[in-house]
Amino acid sequence: MEVPGPVLDAARSAHRVVVVTGAGMSAESGVPTFRDAQTGLWARYAAEDLATPEAWERDPAFVWAWYFSRFGSLAAVEPNAGHRAVATWAEVAGAESVAVVTQNVDDLHERAGSPDVVHLHGSLASFRCSRCDTAYEGRVDVPDAGDAQPERLDPPVCVECGGLVRPGVVWFGELLPLDAWERAVAVVESADLVLVVGTSGLVHPAAGLPVIGRGAGATVVEVNPRETDTSDVAHHVWRATAAVALPALVQALARTG
Ligand code: APR
Repeated sequence: MEVPGPVLDAARSAHRVVVVTGAGMSAESGVPTFRDAQTGLWARYAAEDLATPEAWERDPAFVWAWYFSRFGSLAAVEPNAGHRAVATWAEVAGAESVAVVTQNVDDLHERAGSPDVVHLHGSLASFRCSRCDTAYEGRVDVPDAGDAQPERLDPPVCVECGGLVRPGVVWFGELLPLDAWERAVAVVESADLVLVVGTSGLVHPAAGLPVIGRGAGATVVEVNPRETDTSDVAHHVWRATAAVALPALVQALARTG
């Protein structure tokens, strides 16, 4: 795939790069996005029944079962060429730093080898007590891919206080982890290039990062096959998918230095 000239120019002159990613980054790995018609999780499930503190209060076994099956499906997917391109960018194309700020709760950036990943919305692979916040280190056996996914599953119990253990993700109406947010703002404010990949730009405060980056003087580039709420903030938009565009960009940078 040909890299648009202005995108290549901006990437070539960038020393500090920040890649802000959303669900579209993992779509080509087989992880469903949230809002894509039909295939998106929120097209198939009601977010208010699964991804809110109220839903957890109402029916923790229903919520736990759903996140547990998503946790299980992580084992069946692999990082795609986009994740790998981001992980090798600094070394292959000589950028000073390539930081990843993701809304994704999967671990595909880390599994691809990205050394610096900020998770704004938590992680499917971490768990904590919903009462005393103690991190849960107990066993959470990955369900076999072939196993029928139970609609309800009792969450584990906290060893400290006996409270129910919840998934380590950020639900609607909850605050982002402060350290993650502060780190995200810091890297975006000092970036030369902010590449926004595979996010609809609908969920704040994450959707505000491209604006913060642009305000601090960074060039903002959007990689997304469709128009989004971030498209107007971007200096350049590249209507392409993550696993096709990002390897093409890093290879072009490696070729032309
Ligand atoms: N490559 C690049 N972008 C893609 C691809 C792909 N292969 N496939 C889809 N996209 C784009 C879609 O066009 C859409 O703009 O990815 C975006 C996915 O948008 P959402 O499903 O809204 O996901 P995201 O923006 O990450 O959602 C933000 O909302 O539900 C909450 O907490 C959840 O972190 C999530 C947040």
